[in-house]
Amino acid sequence: MKPIIIANWKMNPENMRQAKALFSAAQRTVLGGGVEIVVCPPYPYLAPLYQLAKKVALGGQDCSWRDKGALTGEVSAKQLKDIGCRYVIIGHSERKKYLAETLGMVKAKVEAALRGGLSVILCVENVRELQMIMKKIKSSKNILVVFEPSSAISTQGGKRITPENIATMVRAMKKVTGKNTKILYGGSVNAKSISAIMQEGKVQGVLVGTASLNAQEFSNLVKESVL
Ligand code: PGA
Repeated sequence: MKPIIIANWKMNPENMRQAKALFSAAQRTVLGGGVEIVVCPPYPYLAPLYQLAKKVALGGQDCSWRDKGALTGEVSAKQLKDIGCRYVIIGHSERKKYLAETLGMVKAKVEAALRGGLSVILCVENVRELQMIMKKIKSSKNILVVFEPSSAISTQGGKRITPENIATMVRAMKKVTGKNTKILYGGSVNAKSISAIMQEGKVQGVLVGTASLNAQEFSNLVKESVL
């Protein structure tokens, strides 16, 4: 199965020129179709980057829990889909930390994203969170789960989680979602660490923040993921 590498650019880079350069570099790293790459840039860059997209899929970094209406500042899953997105990240720990996003909101957003025809990149910190969110969601089809402990994120301390611990978590999470759901890992993944995370951690992909903002580092990381 192809590893899936998701680049979460967060609120970077600073301008469209840099976004286009970074996106073009990411496209050049897709080696003979051996990996699947999803780039999740800030909203304003999505539509212009879609015009350049050939080998790389696009995803939003969040979406609304509603389909339309009077919600200033929100963007719907259907709007993301309409401009070419195939994916959306939901439940990132930075949204919980800085914007008080609750698990109830995360669940409603997952449902909205699925209604809107997007695949969900669902970030969770532990099995309990996953269980609470998946309660009442009818099917885990079109949901990729990312095990991402906030303390492991590079800008929040970058605590190292061993590949053995990741593998244990993958097994526990698959018990909740069913064995066909892809479980990914996120938190300080870089070109040096990806190989052990993929192989010994038994994940089917990774969510990458900081290392996706440097074209050379990202290219090395993609190469290491398929070795
Ligand atoms: P990091 O970010 O790779 O910089 O740790 C990952 C994330 O927050 O999604």
